[in-house]
Amino acid sequence: MCGIIGINSSKPVSATIINSLKKLEYRGYDSAGIATLSAGLINEVKSEGRVDNLEKDSLVQNMQGTIGIGHVRWATHGLPNSINAHPHSSQNVSVVHNGIIENSTLLKKFLVSKGHKFKSQTDTEVIVHLITEYLKTKNIIDSIKKTLKSLHGSFALGILFKDQPDLIVGARRGSPLAVGYGPNENYLGSDSYALKSMTNKITYLNDGEFCFIKKDQVEFFNNEGIKINKKVLQLSSEEQKYDKGDYKHFMAKEIDEQPKTLKNGINEYLDNINNDINIYNFPWKISEISSVLLIGCGTAYHSCLMAKYWFEQITSLDVNVDIASEFRYRKNRFKKDTLYVFVSQSGETADTYAALDLCKQNGMKTCSVVNIIESSIARDSDFVLPIHCGIEIGVASTKAFLGQMLILYILCLKLSFLRKDLDKDNFIKKLIDLKKLPKLVDQTLLTDNKIQSVSSSFNEAKGSMFLGRGFSYPIALEGALKLKELSYIHAEGYPAGEMKHGPLALIEEGMPVVVLAPRDSYYKKTISNMQEVIARGAKVLLITNKSEDEIISENIWETLEVENTNEDLLPFLLTIPLQKLAYYSALKKGYDIDKPRNLAKSVTVE
Ligand code: F6R
Repeated sequence: MCGIIGINSSKPVSATIINSLKKLEYRGYDSAGIATLSAGLINEVKSEGRVDNLEKDSLVQNMQGTIGIGHVRWATHGLPNSINAHPHSSQNVSVVHNGIIENSTLLKKFLVSKGHKFKSQTDTEVIVHLITEYLKTKNIIDSIKKTLKSLHGSFALGILFKDQPDLIVGARRGSPLAVGYGPNENYLGSDSYALKSMTNKITYLNDGEFCFIKKDQVEFFNNEGIKINKKVLQLSSEEQKYDKGDYKHFMAKEIDEQPKTLKNGINEYLDNINNDINIYNFPWKISEISSVLLIGCGTAYHSCLMAKYWFEQITSLDVNVDIASEFRYRKNRFKKDTLYVFVSQSGETADTYAALDLCKQNGMKTCSVVNIIESSIARDSDFVLPIHCGIEIGVASTKAFLGQMLILYILCLKLSFLRKDLDKDNFIKKLIDLKKLPKLVDQTLLTDNKIQSVSSSFNEAKGSMFLGRGFSYPIALEGALKLKELSYIHAEGYPAGEMKHGPLALIEEGMPVVVLAPRDSYYKKTISNMQEVIARGAKVLLITNKSEDEIISENIWETLEVENTNEDLLPFLLTIPLQKLAYYSALKKGYDIDKPRNLAKSVTVE
């Protein structure tokens, strides 16, 4: 949700800032801007739309300055246009901001009364004027401290000062921010991905902290303005490179990377010699846990929902699932013997982080399943289970979804075995099947042609439905979400057995309906529900698994068979054609697949 870059160097910085903004575009892409200092002045250039537009501006091409800040925006306050784009500047100060200032209206009133003039509709502009106002009577540290104390809400900030040619200030509350170290230059970034092409040495700011980035030194301060020491982390070289290769879109690449994602996770957690699962340093005794609450947003919530079915089936634990934005404001009954599990690809989702924070404040046991191990959620939970799927750039989550499901399944097996819900033989059988999964996903990825051809029917329809029961229900929700977010087609995921209680009224002649009916314990029931929608005119794409048993049903529009495996693991395979359906449907419509409209990858606002 918005991206920040800052560079303080002895070389000109505008071209490097533009390149870094291109990398950050997955975080926000409705407008972009840059500000540098040169000849004692702040130069600012902004444009609506993509970074390409900004780059083409002749003012950017001729921009001087060895110190600067840049921003890509995902609009919260005010239209996505060049006036509302960041940076926002007064004569003395220029600011880029991620997050939301909740008391901006009140602050604006105060600043207007002091004679400040506002140009944009954004909440960010109050930060610029507050610092400018406080600088009249205070030094930089005190004006920053006072400004940060006045702000309610969340922020990551990059700040330039006209009279400070060797200073970028970074500050964070709620939104992530990182500092990078280079040779005779230092950087500020809203995530390490933006900094990776320049450095592998990173420090993350914690909530309440701010920093002074000079060319040859970085100083960190706590919220009281007292200097603190921070660790410098070294990123691996593999983490530093990630591009599209021969693929047209990151999403296509990330779908194809899923066998590797699963292999990485399996290699990381499965102990082949002892037929066991390695989850080291689990901080609690198994007897201390009698229930599990899984919390996430969007696709991550769907992986939680999937895990609920596994936990209920395989363990004797009580298990519940919650959407983070609901959990954080409800009256929760916290229980000491519950393990609170937070699932998040980015590890920065504001709602999920707030839910974690709430649990921590109440002294609960917290565990996170994340992809970005340096993220806030990973750093602040008691225990972390990394997904190990590598960076995911496509805004629509694909390989991280399979990665999350894998880790939750592994956790479920381990807890079940430790609790003696699962005996050794069955445990080993499940591990053997799991090891075969990457190959089966690889084979299922070959179902391309049929999916490509049916995708046109989804594009032509007014809307579509995705139906499943039991293990397939969370996957139906995920399939519908992928189609909505990429193709902007109304798609509804529903439990197949629930159709008769209302949604059946939506079915009309020719409406495309995906029915997920693998040959599991729900198969016959789902096939009956499928017949109910066919009888009302739906065009059914049946997705099932390979089997020698014939499918006994008439008038199915198309059938697609994924590979065969045990009932627990079929959801992984059913996901593949649904990801491809969304991909091809958006491709045919010519939409921007890696950056769907109105969305951003890392949702750091609530
Ligand atoms: C959908 C999608 C989103 C994310 C959600 C949570 O394709 O990507 O629904 O799953 O915003 O994000 P994370 O997993 O980063 O917490």
